[in-house]
Amino acid sequence: MGIDTANIPEQICLLKHRISRQCPDLEERFREIESRVSEDIRKIEEFKEQGKCAIPEITFTEIAENSVNKKTIETVKRHGAVIVRNVFSPEQVKDWFLELNRYLDQNGYYEQDDPGLDNYFSDLKADKPQICAVYWSKPQIQARQSSELAQVRTFLNSLWIYQNNGRLHFHPDRECTYADRVRMRMPGDTSLGLSPHVDGGSVERWLGGNYQQVYSSLFGSNWQDYDPFNGAFRTEVEGIDSPAVCRAFRTWQGWTALTSQGAGDGTLQLIPTTMGIAYILLRPFLQDVPEEVLCGAVEGRAQAITEEWHSLLLRGLVTIPKVEPGDTVWWHPDVVHAVEHEHQGCDVSSVMYIGSAPLCERNTRYLDRQKQPFLDGRSAPDFAPEDFEKNFPDRATIDDLSQLGKMQMGFDQWD
Ligand SMILES: [Fe+2]
Repeated sequence: MGIDTANIPEQICLLKHRISRQCPDLEERFREIESRVSEDIRKIEEFKEQGKCAIPEITFTEIAENSVNKKTIETVKRHGAVIVRNVFSPEQVKDWFLELNRYLDQNGYYEQDDPGLDNYFSDLKADKPQICAVYWSKPQIQARQSSELAQVRTFLNSLWIYQNNGRLHFHPDRECTYADRVRMRMPGDTSLGLSPHVDGGSVERWLGGNYQQVYSSLFGSNWQDYDPFNGAFRTEVEGIDSPAVCRAFRTWQGWTALTSQGAGDGTLQLIPTTMGIAYILLRPFLQDVPEEVLCGAVEGRAQAITEEWHSLLLRGLVTIPKVEPGDTVWWHPDVVHAVEHEHQGCDVSSVMYIGSAPLCERNTRYLDRQKQPFLDGRSAPDFAPEDFEKNFPDRATIDDLSQLGKMQMGFDQWD
């Protein structure tokens, strides 16, 4: 796995020549995709005009009772995003939030030196939301290993094709803990947001062999055959090493709200259409794009979505509907997202980043690299090695892991 980073512009030119030969109808194909994506964008705009949000919502009870209806599932798949409400009780989340604040304050988190932030997002217009680089507080551990999130993630993973052609791509009902950080964004913060982007690399989506397989139908006989939820080849896609690039396989990115937040509170924005990626992938093949340019893709950086190349998509950028403590937000790994540039609200906007990384070989390898950092209180392996929690006496230890938590962390076998 890997991409030769020595001659990327040359590789891009070669790829463009190859694809142009393979698909003489690229322009027409792009126009068809554009019109399909336009339908989604129009729908998103219609909701917005009515003061509503196109992102579908379900409740935790519906998942627990297995009563989410088919139409809702179709909507979730089309938008590649969903709010799952009331996963945790407000009391539980209040306790976690207070405990997390106490953990940060009493251990002097905010008094530490600026560690020199990673540069993964540095080409995006704004740099960095207020994210605290703690991975091992007890509230984070408890939320990650909760039975509630296990149920939600099993449901969401099952929307994917997780086995086909005699191969199990991942176990939808077995989670691997991908330890991530927390957001504690203070009211009045005007400097820290994230411009629209897609994670999971940028040039890799065109140049990586497994990524090419993932998107092969977009360049094959019928682009309509492309299924954003087909797990084949996804667990082994290529990545160019860079700080803050996720090396695990995630079916969904996501977070759990610790405080109320909605439009204006410095929170998440999405362009909720799973076909947006098809538009992004074909856009560089149009005549107005220089040969070595992949429209917002720079090696080692997130895929940027820009007015210059993706103005249609940007019309569909919406802030998530207001969420309350204990609600969770999920989006497909190819879905464009951003963080509002300003926090104009009155209260801290806080989340725990907990997505879904189901059990597969790739994620098992990641767990192997994550175990020792957990035991030592160091930063999780995908992130800058700030290691703030090494000397936090009250961080979680292996004794805080439940049976489920031990399996999710790779300390115990599932069977
Ligand atoms: Fe992101």
